[in-house]
Amino acid sequence: MYRTHTCGELRIEDKGKTVTLAGWVQKARKLGGMTFIDLRDRYGITQLVVEAEAPEALVETATSLGREFVIQATGEVLERQSKNPKMATGDIEIKVASINILNKSVTPPFTIEDESDGGEDLRAKYRYLDLRRNPLQKALMLRHRLAHEVRNYLDGEGFLEIETPYLIKSTPEGARDFVVPSRMNPGQFYALPQSPQTFKQLLMVAGYDRYFQIVRCFRDEDLRADRQPEFTQIDCEMAFVEQEDVLDTFEGMMKTLFRNVLGIDFKDPLPRMSWYDAMDKYGSDKPDIRFGMTIHDVTGSAKGKGFGVLDGAAYIGAICVPGASEYTRKQIDELTEWVKRPQVGAKGLIYIKVNNDGSFKSSIDKFYAPEDLEIIAERAEARPGDLVLILSGDNMRKVQTMLGVLRIEMGNRLGLRDPKVFAPLWIVDFPLFEWDDETQRFYAMHHPFTAPKPEHEKWFYSDAKEDIERVCANAYDFVLNGTELGGGSIRIHNADMQKRMFEVLGIGPEEAEYKFGFIINAFRFGAPPHGGLAFGFDRVCALFGGQETIRDYIAFPKNNQGRDVMIDSPSVIDDAQLEELQIKTDLK
Ligand code: AMO
Repeated sequence: MYRTHTCGELRIEDKGKTVTLAGWVQKARKLGGMTFIDLRDRYGITQLVVEAEAPEALVETATSLGREFVIQATGEVLERQSKNPKMATGDIEIKVASINILNKSVTPPFTIEDESDGGEDLRAKYRYLDLRRNPLQKALMLRHRLAHEVRNYLDGEGFLEIETPYLIKSTPEGARDFVVPSRMNPGQFYALPQSPQTFKQLLMVAGYDRYFQIVRCFRDEDLRADRQPEFTQIDCEMAFVEQEDVLDTFEGMMKTLFRNVLGIDFKDPLPRMSWYDAMDKYGSDKPDIRFGMTIHDVTGSAKGKGFGVLDGAAYIGAICVPGASEYTRKQIDELTEWVKRPQVGAKGLIYIKVNNDGSFKSSIDKFYAPEDLEIIAERAEARPGDLVLILSGDNMRKVQTMLGVLRIEMGNRLGLRDPKVFAPLWIVDFPLFEWDDETQRFYAMHHPFTAPKPEHEKWFYSDAKEDIERVCANAYDFVLNGTELGGGSIRIHNADMQKRMFEVLGIGPEEAEYKFGFIINAFRFGAPPHGGLAFGFDRVCALFGGQETIRDYIAFPKNNQGRDVMIDSPSVIDDAQLEELQIKTDLK
């Protein structure tokens, strides 16, 4: 037997027991002839003591221990002289009688402690060492716990966990596919699923009316803090349901996770906001509602004073930053440069300071009398001491989006985005389509399997662009603290409607048949009404852990270039392998 207890287990009640522990040497230090060893495993740290009077061989072994050596130690549990209240095992120590070195370690490239001295790249290269650190172990334990709670809840609701294939044909979720060559079918490729969307719908056709899967998805898209090329979804689908049934079921799931994992009880129904309101007030389809600072349309009050920039704008919007009227010239200049960055894309920033004495100071004083500024400030609901920030442009949604980004930045600067406060909500009533000026075509806002609202079907079949633009879907997103955690919709279950969908998206009948013939065909064999959604599981884990970055909640993630620097992947493959696959690479 390697161990009788773990390194996190022993307490004062165990005093006097002879125990054997096994683990990694966090550190070993000599103090007045005695050797103290912090022994670590995933359960905690226990202090071992080799006394000065111990047999010479034992003292020698203890002295030879380096960081990250794997050892087994046997000894008696003693009450500590100086207790450490910060450690769970801080009341005791082990008086060591024997040490067995199970394996040595070379000196690790960084310290394995809560705050490591290793940079990100170094830690990524030695991920297995980074994973020994407490914060990462906690993150993976939280992930395990959440997965367990999800399975428990969904099992209780009658859902079946069914696996779907990874080697498939492209499912369009708006990103690029990762493809896999087929040796047995030269020149042909599988695609890795961006989600199991079509398969879960086929399971509904097959009669498995409540499906779920905690499933890996693959998307070749630009990476960010909350995006990985392979990530995990809690993917779900239900038959014979309306939007309300789906929202009820998954609101229940999220509330259960909050209650059982974080001890937070959301008693009332979660708020719901239409996509239109979210865009108008928060400039985002994933609003962070932990703080106000909402957007106000000041177009009517700000136009017509002879200031070209605003007079020529189609939309003028403002946010009111509470208590920021004392911003200095320098701070405002810096903020102006900030909104001009390509990530925000504004041309400039107008401000109105509402001073504590009620007077105004503004970058547009020249064109606007104090009464004019007051009207705008009032529209923006500003009070003395506040700072009104204004952006304008010829496209309302674009300006609102910029204001939304600025709002989040100001929220961060003012410390209004506490990761320990949770403000979930549903965004509903999404437009079915999004028009893209560049390619001059419509795109599906969720995906092409989303059904129009029944009362909007007349517009769905219309040839007029304005009609298509106003079709809404029974689509919904679950948003938490400014992050889209999940989304889904009621689906099309009728072959003709699915064909019409592809037509609006500019996918011709032949292409539709080639890519999606299987699902259109399935709909001809008695497809039940159905709908569902998927949560981004990595994002759920990160937010529950109080972080926005998902990387630490994935055991072996990729870096921002999509590389796994530990195993050095992607990498070239040898000529024989290429030949077998009948693939030529001809890279310049
Ligand atoms: P969607 O594309 O919105 O919907 O994805 C669902 C959720 O998955 C998460 N997510 C990601 N997480 C990490 N890295 C990524 N690259 C990434 N991309 C998406 C998000 C998102 O809300 N088939 C539909 C669901 C449905 O309609 O049922 C789908 O995949 O949290």
